[in-house]
Amino acid sequence: MIECEHVYKQYKNGTNALYDVNFSVKQGEFVYIIGPTGSGKSTLIKLLDGEELPTKGNVEVVGINVGELKRKQVPIYRRNIGVVFQDFRLLPTKTVYENIAYALEVINMKKPQIKKRVDEVLDVVSLKEKKTSFPHELSGGQQQRIAIARAIANRPKVLIADEPTGNLDPGKSDQIMNLLERINKRYGTTILMVTHDLTLVNKHRKRTVVLEHGHIVADLAQGGYVRHDQ
Ligand SMILES: Nc1ncnc2c1ncn2[C@@H]1O[C@H](COP(=O)(O)OP(=O)(O)OP(=O)(O)O)[C@@H](O)[C@H]1O
Ligand SMILES: [Mg+2]
Repeated sequence: MIECEHVYKQYKNGTNALYDVNFSVKQGEFVYIIGPTGSGKSTLIKLLDGEELPTKGNVEVVGINVGELKRKQVPIYRRNIGVVFQDFRLLPTKTVYENIAYALEVINMKKPQIKKRVDEVLDVVSLKEKKTSFPHELSGGQQQRIAIARAIANRPKVLIADEPTGNLDPGKSDQIMNLLERINKRYGTTILMVTHDLTLVNKHRKRTVVLEHGHIVADLAQGGYVRHDQ
């Protein structure tokens, strides 16, 4: 489902963000990526979603060699993956319904199917009653649940989340984790989640990949307790 082979990323200014990264993720896995600030977590996500190209090595997602895509092929490739960010990134002038529907309109889904699909994902995130609300009328946790609903509306095979709980308090973060676990089980979506939140990592144990200075320094199959110095 996801394969990184000898992946290196050097940015134009000479910063080496990733060196010789190797890992693979099977369909249906739920994997955390943790590591100190600047260790290359977001860079890895950007290579997976086609925002950046690897300097060397192979990045393959859903059988597609992402590093070899042409710029204009990237939007089509992205239909295979859902992405969620720390800062939610909802469109402020659109309602909850319109935010989710828009993601489906751009892939030419028909109106009746869009309506059905939006209702379904709003049900998954338990926010049906907020359909006509605007993002600023929602709490941070609710906004993130809508962003997740939008990310899964197209039933992507892979969901990538870069610090999805970074702006939320522990209670809300737990809710988001429960929601991601539900999505992982219900749809078999492969989930890759970058996080700083070791409390969460230690509570909801899963395979945990640890990055440091652009290297993978540990890959803990069942999570296990991650110390704060890791
Ligand atoms: N566009 C860029 N141009 C140059 N250097 C960059 C760029 N983006 C990131 N870097 C550098 O690459 C390294 C890895 O950054 P990255 O954003 O991947 O870290 P991170 O693990 O996500 O950190 P954080 O936990 O703070 O989000 C850092 O040294 C960073 O300064
Ligand atoms: Mg980051």
